[in-house]
Amino acid sequence: MENFTFYSPTYFVFGKDGENKAGSMVKRFGGSKVLIHYGGGSVVRSGLLDRVKASLKAEGIEFTELGGVKPNPRSGLVYEGIELCKKEQVDFILAVGGGSTIDSSKAIAAGVLYDGDFWDYYCGRTIEEALPVGTILTIAAAGSEGSPDSVITRESDMMKRGASGDAIRPRFSILNPALTQTLPPFQSAAGITDIMAHLYERYLTNSVDVEVTDRMIEALLLTMKHEGPRVIADPDNYEARANIMWAGMMAHNNSCGVGRSQDWNSHNIEHELSALYDCAHGAGLAVTMPAVFKYVMKHNIMRFAQVAVRVWGCSMDFEHPEVTALEGINAFAAFLTSLGMPRNFEELGAKEEDIPVLVENLCCGNGREGTISGFVTLNKEDCTNIYRMMV
Ligand code: NZQ
Ligand code: ZN
Repeated sequence: MENFTFYSPTYFVFGKDGENKAGSMVKRFGGSKVLIHYGGGSVVRSGLLDRVKASLKAEGIEFTELGGVKPNPRSGLVYEGIELCKKEQVDFILAVGGGSTIDSSKAIAAGVLYDGDFWDYYCGRTIEEALPVGTILTIAAAGSEGSPDSVITRESDMMKRGASGDAIRPRFSILNPALTQTLPPFQSAAGITDIMAHLYERYLTNSVDVEVTDRMIEALLLTMKHEGPRVIADPDNYEARANIMWAGMMAHNNSCGVGRSQDWNSHNIEHELSALYDCAHGAGLAVTMPAVFKYVMKHNIMRFAQVAVRVWGCSMDFEHPEVTALEGINAFAAFLTSLGMPRNFEELGAKEEDIPVLVENLCCGNGREGTISGFVTLNKEDCTNIYRMMV
């Protein structure tokens, strides 16, 4: 196990009716003038936004609001939010929605206290200072409710990049699984896929003797394997929703990733797809991961064989461990398809002729010089081959 520091200060409120505590939570963490930030309208239609406002009013907390965050959130609304916060002297940002809303909130929170262009943070500068952010989560997926990360797409060139820093870890996150019962099945499945991707990105490590985190990841993958189909079959299954929601947080607040190197090549390769085609991040990952895994499998066959046996129930072929490894990848891909996720470029809405553009955007610009690195380092030719495997 490698040396690490781990700081996870988020206060979690988990369970039914948690949103009614929004006002007391904001107060507890020092907010007096709040920006309520939300997406394309699901929180308006469900009545959640009204309940949150009522909770703030009950505590005498002033607020202003900014809706309209799109999935794969854009820089334009971030700039708008920064200006609004400065004008209204906002001191706390409350994200009500999914990963896109939370990430846009984090970007605004960092941008308000920064003299330069907030995009600097998305080019490798660590976020050291930000307004406090609280979240009320409506989809189990990105894990942004407990993570120090934010992913934004710059509209001028559709560059999708991440920024990071403990300063943007939410002060509190309200997780009410019942709020996720209104999700369309496709979004539930995309969320399940993203959660499993966050686990695989950490499982694919070059560190040795990381038994505790290996076992934690496997436990969470087994949970997703059990609960995912139950939620797709019965969207109102509160208990399954609850297990998935907590697994989504555990998968990405990095408690399963400490002390080990991590991959993130699948995420980087996928981000170009959701940037160019505006597809759901989880759907893009469903197409990306099997291709990446098959391409890099040889780097450490036993890692893939281990997850195949421990999670996917494959029998170990000691003479040909590559057979077991591949069986595990195929079982994972078939699982994602059974949830309703796309299998290839065509089903995702991607085009083979765009591969050179995808590779160029992936490997160049914003600090990248022809390669991306993780479990293995991939150059442009590797990335081209991987995108071709998805066609
Ligand atoms: O915008 P509204 O109207 O709210 O609709 C959303 C949106 O269309 C809808 N939705 C959310 N909750 C709902 C609901 N519809 C009905 N009922 C509900 N309860 O679902 C759609 C997707 O929402 P979005 O916020 O985009 O989903 P997700 O949480 O998957 O976030 C995706 C974004 O997070 C980034 C992704 O790249 C993508 O941009 N990621 C962020 C990470 C982080 N900050 O740590 C890590 C991840 O790997 C990921 O990259
Ligand atoms: Zn993800």
